[in-house]
Order: sequence, then C-alpha cells, then structure tokens
Amino acid sequence: MPSLGLLSRNSATWLGPADWLHRRAAQQPQWPDPAELLAVTEYLSELPALTTPQEITHLHSQLVKVQAGEAFLLQGGDCAELLGTDAVQGASGKQRLLAEMADRIRTGLGLDVVTVGRLAGQFAKPRSEPTEVVDGVTLPVFRGLMVNGPEPVASERQPDPYRLLSCYYTAKHVLQELRGRLWTSHEALILEYERAFRRLDAASGEHYLLSTHLPWIGERTRQIGGAHVAFLAAVANPLQVKVGPNATPDDIVELCEILDPQRIPGRLTLISRMGAAAVSERLPTIVAAIHDRGHSVIWICDPMHGNTVKTANGRKTRYLSTVHDELAAFFTVMATQRQHAGGVHLEMTCGEVTECVGGIGVSTEADLEQNFESLCDPRLNEEQALSTADLIAKSADRPVPIQTRGN
Ligand code: PEP
Ligand code: CO
Repeated sequence: MPSLGLLSRNSATWLGPADWLHRRAAQQPQWPDPAELLAVTEYLSELPALTTPQEITHLHSQLVKVQAGEAFLLQGGDCAELLGTDAVQGASGKQRLLAEMADRIRTGLGLDVVTVGRLAGQFAKPRSEPTEVVDGVTLPVFRGLMVNGPEPVASERQPDPYRLLSCYYTAKHVLQELRGRLWTSHEALILEYERAFRRLDAASGEHYLLSTHLPWIGERTRQIGGAHVAFLAAVANPLQVKVGPNATPDDIVELCEILDPQRIPGRLTLISRMGAAAVSERLPTIVAAIHDRGHSVIWICDPMHGNTVKTANGRKTRYLSTVHDELAAFFTVMATQRQHAGGVHLEMTCGEVTECVGGIGVSTEADLEQNFESLCDPRLNEEQALSTADLIAKSADRPVPIQTRGN
C-alpha cells in the first residue's frame, strides 16, 4: 500500500482555512526537514504564478466544445519531465509533434483539436511501492525530479525540497519557450508544491491552481475523502481524473459529485486507463452510471498506463499494438454508449527513442536497448505517436452528443 502522510499544518495561515489540509494525502515523500520544506513552499508562494485565470478560462471554453462533441482533446508528453535546458528543448520538440498529430486528427475527424502538453510541471510520480531493492540494498523509490534523483544511491533518493524550486524555474522557462502555443497539464501530486500556486483571483473571487492550466488526479490519489480530491475540488480550473480497471461505478459517480457538484460543462474530464484487456468489460457500466445520474463529463482514453509490461531484462515497456487495441476498444465503447470519444492522453516524445515495441526500428524487445531514455514509463517515439494519430483520425466514429443518447 502507498504510504499516507498528513500534510504539515503550520503554514495554514498563509493559505487560509482549507479543509483539504486536514485530510490524508497518499503518495507524499518523507521530507527530511519540515522547517526547510516550509521555507521553500513559503518562498514559492510569493513567486509569480505560472498560468493565469484568463488562460485557464480560455482552455475551459475549449473543453466545453469537447464535451459538446465539437472538438477532440489531444494531450501528451513525458511520463516524467526533465529539469533545466533539457526540459526546455524537449518541450518545443513535443509542441511541434503534437501540432503535427493535431493536424492529422483535425483533418481525419473534421473536428477542432484542443492540444494540451503533459509539461511545465510533470515532474512527480506516484509509485506502487515506497522502496526498491538494488544490488541487495533497499532504497526509497525514485519519485520524479521534483522529489529525488533517479540514480540508485541513498543520497540521491533522499527527498530534497529545493527541487521544488528547480521545478518552478524549469516550468517558467518551458512556458516562455511555448509562448502560449500549448496548454499545460500535469498530475497535481505533490501537494506542498501545488498549494503554493493556489491563488485567489480577485476578479472572480475564485481560487485557481496557477501551477498549470489543467491538473489531473492520478489513479493512486483519487481516494474519496483524500487530500488530493478535496484540494482540487476547491479550485476553479477544469480538472481530470484517471480511472483504472478497479474503479467502481459508485466511486466514480461520487467523484463527479465532489469535483463537479454544479455540473459545469467542461469542468471534468475522466481519463479511462483500463488496459486493452479490460476496457470493453469495465468501462461501459461506469459511463452508463455517470450518465444515468445526470452528470456530463468528457471521456478520454489513456491507452498507456493499463498496458505496461516488463521484459525479460526487467525493463518496463508497452506494445504499440496493445496501445492501439485499447484505443479502438475505447472508441467502440463510446459509440455503443452514444457518447463522444472526447480525446486521448499519451506518453510520447519527439525523436527516435526505443521505449515501446512496434513500428519502424523497434520490432522486438531487444531493440529497446538502443535508446531507452525515459526517467519512468516508456513513451511512444515520433513515428509511433504519428501512427497513433493516424489511427485516431481514421477510427473514431462520428461523435453523437451526450444529449441524444437513447434509453
Ligand atoms: C501517469 O500518467 O504517469 C500515471 C502515473 O498515471 P496513472 O495515475 O493513470 O497510473
Ligand atoms: Co506514466
């Protein structure tokens, strides 16, 4: 089980009373020195925010079109982002690749495409185990560059709060590089970072999360009653939640009620990540339950996270054919449920990495050894990402808006 930790409460004064602060937060690092952490997060909270309420409202208006079946959401980027100049250079490459994919999807579907990067903040990872054994030594797991380093030595694996500052400055430079050409998204995982960017918008009287445009709650932190759900329920951004194969229809209906009690169009996107083998069986009852309870959400598909396998060498990989199978099954489920297949969420990068099996140059697991660079999960390379865009462009049925669903 992932460790649960109570967030420190001593800085509640600068955030105002916040219900989420008293809830248990899954997947938080064991920061070694609370005073040091507090100094860093207070400093962050004084720095200029990374996004603006106006940008977020603009994205929200685009998501309203996705929900109405008039647009398609294309979201993608690294599993775990790099820091510094590597991240800045990587971001412009991803922006170019996402733009090319969006063109193909737009042409194929005859729909507008809303393009969102997994970047300028995707620095932290939830993990299934808190420790791992490397060469007989038990070490804390790597939790993304926001928390610790990937090298398997104890000093690197110690959580370091100054990394939060490196993430902020990297995100700032990535956003400058993108110059407004791409919306940003990341998993709002490390609440000590996110809380520093929860800011009051005087114009609307609402709190916004200004570390990103589109935060999501991961599969491992979407506990009803947990801190992540309560924290995001209290910001005005559009939100996303990952929905894995063990989710029950009741759980997801309850999440809709907590995160979108006012049933605001475009507010909530559910990201189905069931795995190719489970999606046809698991997804329909959840989609139907939400619809029957009068909630209207955007449904998109993450065909990556339910399809991770380990090679004989112990590498994590994914087969492009399985990724495509899940996408095809998702489109079929959505058509059967008479709902818009609203988009796709991918782990992908530009260039010729060899992290997923399939397509030119990566026909077997042995080929993965050539150029496996990911800090965490395997990403589609440029050619695999473009072939996925082509599949989407061809295979999505014409969307039927939710209002016209029969029965
Ligand atoms: C991710 O998107 O990198 C991730 C960890 O996803 P999930 O929460 O769906 O497992
Ligand atoms: Co991942």
